[in-house]
Amino acid sequence: MNNPDIISRTTDFVKQQLKNAEGGHDWFHVQRVYNNAVAIAKNEKADMLVVKLGALLHDIADSKFHNGDESVGPQKARTFLEKENVTGATIDHVVKIIENISFKGSYTEKSFRSRELDIVQDADRLDAIGATGIARAFNYGGFKNRELYNPDIPPRKYRTKEEYKNNKAPTINHFYEKLLLLKDKMNTQTGRKIAEDRHRYMENFLEQFYGEWEGTR
Ligand code: ADP
Ligand code: NI
Repeated sequence: MNNPDIISRTTDFVKQQLKNAEGGHDWFHVQRVYNNAVAIAKNEKADMLVVKLGALLHDIADSKFHNGDESVGPQKARTFLEKENVTGATIDHVVKIIENISFKGSYTEKSFRSRELDIVQDADRLDAIGATGIARAFNYGGFKNRELYNPDIPPRKYRTKEEYKNNKAPTINHFYEKLLLLKDKMNTQTGRKIAEDRHRYMENFLEQFYGEWEGTR
């Protein structure tokens, strides 16, 4: 590796890019995903540089904040890595990870798979569940001025990614539409094990929430 500082330089670049990001999607989200990814990768045979760069760069330009344009993030990452001394193969792999990581991507056939993508995707999914996932969901709901819960609006299935992106449902619905489904989508054994604990924590939270709503707790 002829650029030993690449991780700290990428960290600086990502922090700069995410300066004004919304609280659930800020540098600390990236830091948690990075830590999750490194922990998972230690139990897998994976290219650690690709895992680290993929985790650091996976959210630099969320399409939600770029008028739905999903090409901004991968392009920014490529431009950055090309200025560093990163090999073409590593750049291509990292860019593919960024292009394919999103949950929204699961509405379309996954066109690319690799162990490194599996790891970074698990790491990102872990940050959407458990106590952190609950905090992020309500933060996002607040950012969008959504209701916490509305018993008259049941969770639903979205047929297209546009429907999913544009829905205005209460935040509790998001648990049924996404968060509680993530445990069964985990790619790695390490990720699945952590996901099971975090899943139970969310189920307990929902039970307590409904109990308080009904006045029985
Ligand atoms: P992805 O693009 O990987 O699906 P998002 O960027 O949509 O992830 O989500 C980022 C964070 O915001 C996650 O913690 C997610 O649970 C939360 N979030 C996304 N959509 C909603 C929603 N409709 N209600 C509440 N939280 C949401
Ligand atoms: Ni993310």
